[in-house]
Amino acid sequence: MNSVFLNGAYLPKDQARISVDDRGFVFGDGIYEVVRIIEGRIFAWGEHAARMARGLDAVRIPFSASDVAGLEAVCNTLIADNDLQSGEATVYFQVSRGAAPRTHYFPPAGTPPTVYAAPSRFTPSRDMREKGVKAITVPDLRWARCDLKTVNLMGAVLARQAAHESGAYEALMIRDGMMMEGAATNAFAVIDGVVRTYPLSNYILPGITRQYVLDAARDVGVPVSEEPVTQAQMFAAPELFIVGTTTDVAPIVLLDGKTVGSGSPGPVTKKVQAAFLARLYGSAAVAH
Ligand SMILES: Cc1ncc(COP(=O)(O)O)c(C=O)c1O
Repeated sequence: MNSVFLNGAYLPKDQARISVDDRGFVFGDGIYEVVRIIEGRIFAWGEHAARMARGLDAVRIPFSASDVAGLEAVCNTLIADNDLQSGEATVYFQVSRGAAPRTHYFPPAGTPPTVYAAPSRFTPSRDMREKGVKAITVPDLRWARCDLKTVNLMGAVLARQAAHESGAYEALMIRDGMMMEGAATNAFAVIDGVVRTYPLSNYILPGITRQYVLDAARDVGVPVSEEPVTQAQMFAAPELFIVGTTTDVAPIVLLDGKTVGSGSPGPVTKKVQAAFLARLYGSAAVAH
């Protein structure tokens, strides 16, 4: 139990070693993904693999789309080796630009990327789903390529810590007076019955859950719109919710200490949440 994959080998996590010269360690020079495993099956592998391949290509780490495709088999081996065929889990993948003497510019051609994958058992929070979560707002201090899932997460780390210190689950990022996304989630508001979220751009991560949620909402007849929500609209909205691979759809019931709507999960959020969970779990027999 607790085996991981590192550069072609499967080994116990406490025996996995990388160089202190690894550019993931020194520069945060890498791309990562997190996938959800339900009853031993990877949820939305194709979408996660496509996002990872696009990110690696964008930052010019030499790990091709077919190399990324090969990680599906790695994931399935980790699921089997770690007894994760039943219940739920997550698998973390990271590909860094490899280990080389420190220069800001790229290492010599031929430097192999460092490839790591590690599973963890996961139990979704029923409380979060049913009772909702608290959130705070913070200025979005991140860079201008938030569409890339890079391991350099300083902006998200500081935002989530601020949330944590105020007893909240998530920090919603505000840029130019607009609600962008959470530190590790995409953010939605219900305004005049329409489910609204920031449009895809370089300023938000193209969340896999975000896309599933938009599709699920449309499917059950809830109108959706990918248009920015202002900070004023955010505080006036009767319903807010956040979505992500380990968050699913979580209603926000308190924002910066102020009650959202009635203070409990609203009807549109609940409808969208149920539609999303039906897609997530499909016919899986797992209790949820
Ligand atoms: C900044 C950010 N936005 C959104 C998300 C949600 O993306 P996904 O639904 O693909 O997990 C994440 C996930 O980690 C994230 O880090």
